[in-house]
Amino acid sequence: MDIVTAITGASGALYAQRFIQGLVAAGVNVHLVISPLGRRLLHDEMGLETPDLEVLAGTNKHTITLYSYNDVGAKIASGSFMHDGMVIVPCSSNSLCQIAHGLGDNLINRAAAVTIKERRRLVIAHREMPLSPMDVTAYKLLTDAGTIIAPCNPGLYLNPTTLGEMVDFVAGKLLDLVGVRHALDTRYDPKQPRPPVRYDDIVGTIKS
Ligand SMILES: Cc1cc2nc3c(=O)[nH]c(=O)nc-3n(C[C@H](O)[C@H](O)[C@H](O)COP(=O)(O)O)c2cc1C
Repeated sequence: MDIVTAITGASGALYAQRFIQGLVAAGVNVHLVISPLGRRLLHDEMGLETPDLEVLAGTNKHTITLYSYNDVGAKIASGSFMHDGMVIVPCSSNSLCQIAHGLGDNLINRAAAVTIKERRRLVIAHREMPLSPMDVTAYKLLTDAGTIIAPCNPGLYLNPTTLGEMVDFVAGKLLDLVGVRHALDTRYDPKQPRPPVRYDDIVGTIKS
């Protein structure tokens, strides 16, 4: 499989890391683009001076190809490049709204535009809260165009007690949406209820 993956400057670098690790673990060829603010995010949230493919991949970085953000002539900018889906994680409102309005002046919005025009799967893991009216309009435009809006929005129904579990919830959902098998703990099973969780159990003394 070939999955195009983009990291933009919205909070949630760990979602991108875990998603890419899931792709690599499944033997997927990852075609990666990172916006300038996405690079800043990897620095601010993960301490990466430059995008370190070894850190992002977890194991075998050789299945990741890193493309230049400004190279709108790269092969993933063309409809003739066959891939199995594109995921933008995390996706900023800036990139969301650009894509909703058909811009193609960088490799992320161009690859997304091509994915839409070729009727391939595009998954946008948007991260913003609250949503602006422009975000909501972009959701509608993109959903009508067949894009899946999958906000970085971890459910708590598996009773997570760590940040890692919450990150895995989102990363696992994104892998599901592009048909990549994974072993992340994301499945609800009423026959195997999880231990209930209270805030003070996992955080300690409740701050008032
Ligand atoms: C540390 C940091 C966190 C940010 N978090 C968000 C966010 O969660 N959602 C968002 O839409 N923008 C966020 N922004 C703002 C975007 O990075 C900014 O709008 C930028 O233009 C996005 O560009 P890009 O879409 O090309 O990556 C954040 C910026 C910084 C520096």
